[in-house]
Amino acid sequence: MYDMAALYYDLYYKEYITKSLPLQMKEEILTFTVEHLDECANLAVEVFNGELPNQHWTRETARVRLQEIFNTSGFVGLVCRSWEMQGFVVGICEQWENTLRFELKTICVRSDRQGHGIGTNLLQQLVNTLKSMNVNSIYLLTSKDGLAEAFYTKNGFQRSPRMIFMSHQLIQ
Ligand SMILES: CC(C)(COP(=O)(O)OP(=O)(O)OC[C@H]1O[C@@H](n2cnc3c(N)ncnc32)[C@H](O)[C@@H]1OP(=O)(O)O)[C@@H](O)C(=O)NCCC(=O)NCCS
Repeated sequence: MYDMAALYYDLYYKEYITKSLPLQMKEEILTFTVEHLDECANLAVEVFNGELPNQHWTRETARVRLQEIFNTSGFVGLVCRSWEMQGFVVGICEQWENTLRFELKTICVRSDRQGHGIGTNLLQQLVNTLKSMNVNSIYLLTSKDGLAEAFYTKNGFQRSPRMIFMSHQLIQ
């Protein structure tokens, strides 16, 4: 005999799980832990290869980079998670004369969620965490004149009037 109760149960939960659940799960900011490495590496590959010029990350190289940062003394990182990884920010806290300063190494937000305040939220929580650690300042490298610079400027960063970025190509 046809079991209507089982059919409704099946339909209801399939709909609920595939459609409603992701929309209902709230985003939360959490401390970056070793369990987040794979998901964040995958996200970084999607975002950086997909959006920035001349980026050729693989899951392996992105994971190695994130793990290097994660294993460095002074690591501080946050993730924004709901049903899946939405974004993350990582960097290193270091001694500078008699103060502490923080190098922001990477921030990224999944492409289809950008422009909805997740990056700003991650940065604000990072600032709160760093203030509680008595960190004096944050510095970073980013591409000039693009959306990333606009994002940082909106969040209180300014171009250094004194410092420049220099590089020396060793292998062509
Ligand atoms: C840069 C980045 C982290 C910002 O996070 P976000 O969640 O998209 O940013 P928010 O929504 O908090 O802030 C929006 C502001 O950031 C800027 N912005 C940067 N990238 C943006 C994007 N792709 N879409 C919309 N706004 C963007 C704009 O100035 C915007 O302000 P506006 O809405 O008044 O125009 C995110 O867009 C990203 O991951 N970009 C690709 C990777 C990257 O460039 N990382 C930084 C260099 S390491």
